[in-house]
Amino acid sequence: MIYLNGDFLRIEEARIPVLDRGFIFGDGVYEVIPVYSRKPFRLSEHLRRLQYSLDGIRLQNPHSDSEWTHLLEQLVALNEGEDQYIYLHITRGVARRDHAFPHGVAPTVFIMSNPLLTPPPGLLHTGAVAISANDNRWLRCDIKAISLLPNVLLRQMAIDEDALETVLFRDGFMTEGAASNIFVVRNGILLAPPKNHLMLPGITYDVVLELAQANGIPHEVRAIKEHEVRTAEELLLTSSTKEIMPITRLDNQPVGEGKPGRIFALLYQFYQSYKQTTMRGNSSIS
Ligand code: PDD
Repeated sequence: MIYLNGDFLRIEEARIPVLDRGFIFGDGVYEVIPVYSRKPFRLSEHLRRLQYSLDGIRLQNPHSDSEWTHLLEQLVALNEGEDQYIYLHITRGVARRDHAFPHGVAPTVFIMSNPLLTPPPGLLHTGAVAISANDNRWLRCDIKAISLLPNVLLRQMAIDEDALETVLFRDGFMTEGAASNIFVVRNGILLAPPKNHLMLPGITYDVVLELAQANGIPHEVRAIKEHEVRTAEELLLTSSTKEIMPITRLDNQPVGEGKPGRIFALLYQFYQSYKQTTMRGNSSIS
């Protein structure tokens, strides 16, 4: 079951007009929210980022946080599986094709929920293979925009090479992955690139830094040079659907010892126990 503009429908029944600006221009924003034991994870943070993305494209939020929460609760209840992931998508609505914003047009709101398939233990044990590429996206990567063509092409480069993700570099610095944030470990210190317009402010990224802080893992938020990535002890990838994963090969070279490292193992454990805590209704990390 999906939600579309006020109705809960079977996905096969859902229809949108061809003049929807999401279809014509990619004019919209989205969120991906993991759901554990039927509870959306870090919901207020995801809704805050949604508001930020909407502000970034000058589109009014069609719902209050409590309305969103109620819609998501209903959709999760209508779908199977304790663990799901919600895909929430808002476009500037249906209008005659013209780049300029239309007047008096209601946004299109589409939400679906699918089973959440986190990385299998085998993959966590070996670690993921990644390639790298030049970050050729626009300069507002902090907006979670539905126009994802560069991300699609960059991630497909990885798939074509039997890799899982593409690590992006811009002007000699690491930005993020095509569909994830990237952390680097050097000299036992967890390094994270600073949030700015060149990367998506990941919700999982925040959780990882909070877990590092709460558990005494040395960490630093600073710009990370390409050569620091290529000579890292560990590389980690984070996203709402992949949680936290080790990258053990980059461009056909082993990362560190070529196997998941100590900082990954610690953070993975902390992340899993934090998830358990949130399912019991407590969302603070202390
Ligand atoms: N993508 N950077 C990019 C470009 C992403 O697409 C994502 C997530 C992230 C990680 O953000 P978060 O931790 O909030 O999921 C970073 C989602 C999962 C997607 O597009 O499917």
